[in-house]
Amino acid sequence: MVKGKITAASIRARKDGSGKGQGGAAPEKIAAVTAYDVSFARIFDASGVDVLLVGDSLGMVVQGGSNTLAVTLEDVIYHTRAVARGASQALVVADMPFMSYQVSPEQALASAGRLIKEGNAEAVKLEGGAAVCPAISRMLDAGIPVMGHLGLTPQSVHAFGGFKVQAKDDAAVERLLADARALEQAGVFSMVLESVPRAVAKLVTEAVSVPTIGIGAGPDCDGQVLVCYDFLGLFQGFVPRFVKRYAELSEVVAEATQSYVREVRAGQFPEDRHSFGSTRAGGPAPAESGSPDEARYASGPKARE
Ligand code: KIV
Repeated sequence: MVKGKITAASIRARKDGSGKGQGGAAPEKIAAVTAYDVSFARIFDASGVDVLLVGDSLGMVVQGGSNTLAVTLEDVIYHTRAVARGASQALVVADMPFMSYQVSPEQALASAGRLIKEGNAEAVKLEGGAAVCPAISRMLDAGIPVMGHLGLTPQSVHAFGGFKVQAKDDAAVERLLADARALEQAGVFSMVLESVPRAVAKLVTEAVSVPTIGIGAGPDCDGQVLVCYDFLGLFQGFVPRFVKRYAELSEVVAEATQSYVREVRAGQFPEDRHSFGSTRAGGPAPAESGSPDEARYASGPKARE
C-alpha cells in the first residue's frame, strides 16, 4: 500500500479535504492505531495506517498496570524509538505520560523535546483542555506538533472515579466544547475524543476546524484510533463496548505455543534443517555467506534511524 509520508500538516488538512479525497469527495477518515514495538509498527505502517500512536496505554497492555499513571517519560521514549524504526509512512505520535507536562509549560517543552530528540517522535499528544494550552503554545513555538485528547482522559482516572463515559450532561458538554475550541485556538493539529456519547462527538467534530479522532466516540469523528492489543484480540482483560475485535490473536498465539511446546517435548523440533552445519563435526555443510544462516542479523526492512 503506497502512500506519501504522513505528516502532522497532512493530518490537519484531512479535515477540510485539502489533503485527501479532493474533487468533491468526502475527506478520507484518519485511521490510527497504537503501537509499542518495531515489528507491529512495520505491519501497521505497511497496512496503510495513518498514525502510529505510542500511547501510555502501554502501561496497561504491555506493563500490566491497572491504569496508565505509572508510565514514565523514559518508557515512552524507549517504545517510541522502536516504533519509529518501523514507520516509513505513518506519522509517529508519542504520548506524554502523567506528570511529564502538568507541572509547567517549561516541563512540557523539555519532555516533548526528549520524545522528539531521543524517541524520534514526529509529534506528541497530551491530555486536557484549556488548562494545558500554555504548554501547547510553548511546544508549538519550539516546532513540535501537538495532538490534543479530551473526554475520558485516562490520566484523570482518579478524578473521574473510574474509566467512565464523559460529557453526559449539558454542563459537561459545554465544558467539552469550550476545551475543544481552546485546543483548536492553541494550534493542535488534531484531537482525540475518548468515551463520549456519539451525539456529543458529532457536535465537537462540527464545532472545530481540526480533525477529531474518536475512540468510543461513535462514527461521526474525522478518524478513529484503537489500542492494537484490543482490535487484534491480544488483551485478555475487560473488552470495552467500543472495541471491535478484528482478530483473536491470543488464540492463534496460544495454539502456536502449544504446538511448539509439544514438538520440543516430543523431540520433533528442531529438525536437521533448523540446525547449523560445521566442516569439523559432520552433519550439514556450513551455509554460504549471505544464506539464511545469517538472515536474522543481516536483514530486515530499512527503517528511519
Ligand atoms: O494511550 C493511548 O493508547 C491513548 C489512546 C487510547 C487514544 O491515548
